[in-house]
Amino acid sequence: MIKITIDNREIEVKPGTNVLQAALDNGIDIPHLCYHPELVPSGGCRMCLVEVEGRPNPVPSCGLQAAEGMVIHTRTEQVEAMRRDIIDLFVSDHPLNCVVCDKNGACALQKYAYEYNVAETSFDFELSRTLYQDDNPFFIRDHQYCILCGKCVRVCDEVVGAHAIDFSQRGFVTYIATPFDVPLAESSCVFCGSCVQVCPTAALLPRNKIGKGREWELERTRTVCGYCGVGCSLEYALKDGEIIYAQGFADAPVNGEFLCVKGRFGWDFAKQPDRLTQPLVRKDLAYELGLTDEPWELPETSVLKSKPKAENYIPVSWEQAIDITATKLADIIRQHGGNAVAGLASARCTNEENYIFQKFMRVGVGTNSIDHCARL
Ligand code: SF4
Ligand code: SF4
Ligand code: SF4
Ligand code: FES
Repeated sequence: MIKITIDNREIEVKPGTNVLQAALDNGIDIPHLCYHPELVPSGGCRMCLVEVEGRPNPVPSCGLQAAEGMVIHTRTEQVEAMRRDIIDLFVSDHPLNCVVCDKNGACALQKYAYEYNVAETSFDFELSRTLYQDDNPFFIRDHQYCILCGKCVRVCDEVVGAHAIDFSQRGFVTYIATPFDVPLAESSCVFCGSCVQVCPTAALLPRNKIGKGREWELERTRTVCGYCGVGCSLEYALKDGEIIYAQGFADAPVNGEFLCVKGRFGWDFAKQPDRLTQPLVRKDLAYELGLTDEPWELPETSVLKSKPKAENYIPVSWEQAIDITATKLADIIRQHGGNAVAGLASARCTNEENYIFQKFMRVGVGTNSIDHCARL
């Protein structure tokens, strides 16, 4: 371990740790906009400047590796004045309409403008980017709010590997674009929304969030994504019981803040009226088992060719459903042998569950006819 001193506090950090992360891990908040612990530091925003004893000028702490004996000061008059100037520069090219902005309450630029009391710019105000792109069904790109921190570019390259976006143009007119400015849907974007997750401002927002409520009005519910056996944790932001958007969170054990398109944007099934929420037994069997008084027969045409109708099924408890399935399965095996049965496992189960299922089919039922729908 390496010993360093930050703001008169001696702390121990692992070799290779950058000073910003060392400070954050020890509850010392150094302002930062372009840094993300999962991404290679770019040193782009300069908000994390610190003074290091023995060095002539302030240095960005996100790109500074901790070294034995280093003494760092994060809140000197000089660096605080520099940070204030940096925020002033950001807001000289940014519409400060926080009162109607959908990022209000969750915006890093707003947080720092408040902390440093920057209500307006002291420079000439001019918006360099006014482009608004809604070229996909999942999120909007409103470039006037972009502060060019580059986190979206780095997450797309380093975490997702899609390389769908990069800086385009130079100087004041720089903006984030796909190659040749094609719509995102025509680029290599996989719509994972990781760029939306890491964006500190309203430049990238889930489409469904726009106009649906202020951040502080939303309830948060953490759960596990139901789409596949990876088991990513996610957090739903809800208003009046309606999901507004989904996001990852840093301490999620499997996936951290990152999700795929299904987990992040594919949650509308939760409110579908024909979603199965309990086991159902088809009416002909339900009648045979005495679960209904209404006789019913399977129509001549296969039910597989038409959408199952809810009125042809009887809801039962899980205990009843498992009991009926076990009895029917045992009858088939007794009469026709294990090879009369085939099993289809689910990609939504974990590896362990699928392992148990195949063991049950091979050893318990006595068949090798087993497949897996890992094609969600
Ligand atoms: S992106 Fe942030 S700073 Fe900009 S208007 Fe919205 S809340 Fe305010
Ligand atoms: S949605 Fe994912 S793949 Fe598409 S630009 Fe953002 S990070 Fe890259
Ligand atoms: S879109 Fe967001 S994450 Fe990307 S550079 Fe702009 S502010 Fe940063
Ligand atoms: S957070 Fe270090 S330069 Fe931006």
